[in-house]
Amino acid sequence: MERVENKSACKVWCSYCCDSHQSGTPEEVDCRWSLPESNTSRWKNSGDHWSQHWDWKGDRPRFGTKRFATVCMCLTIGARVVMACRDMRRGEKAASEVRRSTGNGNVVVRQLDLSSLASVREFASKLSATEDRLDILINNAGVMMCPRSLTEDGFETQLGVNHLAHFLLTMLLLDMLKSSAPSRVVNVSSIAHVGGKINFEDLFYNKTPYDSLVSYRQSKLANLLFSRELARRTRAYGVSAFALHPGVIRTELGRYVETRYPLLSALLRAPALLLMKTPKQGAQTTIYCAVTEGLEMHTGCYFSDCKLKEPAPEGKDDLAAMRLWDFSAKLVGYNEED
Ligand SMILES: NC(=O)c1ccc[n+]([C@@H]2O[C@H](COP(=O)([O-])OP(=O)(O)OC[C@H]3O[C@@H](n4cnc5c(N)ncnc54)[C@H](OP(=O)(O)O)[C@@H]3O)[C@@H](O)[C@H]2O)c1
Repeated sequence: MERVENKSACKVWCSYCCDSHQSGTPEEVDCRWSLPESNTSRWKNSGDHWSQHWDWKGDRPRFGTKRFATVCMCLTIGARVVMACRDMRRGEKAASEVRRSTGNGNVVVRQLDLSSLASVREFASKLSATEDRLDILINNAGVMMCPRSLTEDGFETQLGVNHLAHFLLTMLLLDMLKSSAPSRVVNVSSIAHVGGKINFEDLFYNKTPYDSLVSYRQSKLANLLFSRELARRTRAYGVSAFALHPGVIRTELGRYVETRYPLLSALLRAPALLLMKTPKQGAQTTIYCAVTEGLEMHTGCYFSDCKLKEPAPEGKDDLAAMRLWDFSAKLVGYNEED
């Protein structure tokens, strides 16, 4: 809260200088911009609760200079944050770090493993029991191009973790989001949705040969279609949904690509790094979708570089979005009457 009052010293928020990111500069933007008053007013003193599938970086070496970027920005503008982490020990360690670096201690860590629907149900039930409101749900966590494996519930991992677990979690928290309206769901998708296809005949590649990139594309297209259908269903309740591409960021997401093509990765790494965003820059569009006032009129839309963007045609297929919703509800055992 204190930091919000002292907005002129806020170095974290830089949504409004994202154009400079597009030049591909590897430097952190030393951005002393504050949130415009209109953007902060709703959030700063209300003790708003945010839940984030947090992009935890653990003990691994990191490229970025600003760690835990999205959480830090949420805290800096005065939010209460619930971090959903699969490893509590590392989560607590990180929470201490963000408390120290932001000066906002209003962050708690809760256990969530997205490869287990039981864990999703437990997390949602504890969150509903311990928090009195939920203003913004950020579905961020994900895996990319991992070798074929199955989740605890028998789902192919990329669709299971990147889409089905987020779908169930959002459904289980929907009553809380409705009662906290106006509220938002922010789904971190990717430009990789372009060329993606929902393989309704064989969602988990049980019969079709598995291709890790095709499966990743399917899961990120699912994020977009889910946002679209969710927006259609929840608009009347004051719950908005957005999907976004955060940019190409120096994170751990490419770990499986590096394992699969080590030589190519090594050759590409140096030049590619120059074109990539830092985690702090990569968090801007997420924060933009989470707090920008007036964005409700664009519910169901897709964003990139803090701007409204046209998704690929497959990302605007409303029939596929409805069909995916029905498939997802059935697979995770969610009944609208629950
Ligand atoms: N990086 C990019 O260039 C890029 C581009 C487009 C879209 N995205 C999207 O951005 C999002 C964040 O990715 P990132 O770049 O920050 O990658 P990252 O550094 O690998 O972070 C992904 C996070 O997801 C968590 N996670 C993975 N599986 C999980 C599970 N079963 N349960 C709970 N948490 C789990 C990981 O937790 P652990 O720390 O425990 O492993 C990790 O903290 C993803 O949805 C990704 O598709 C990224």
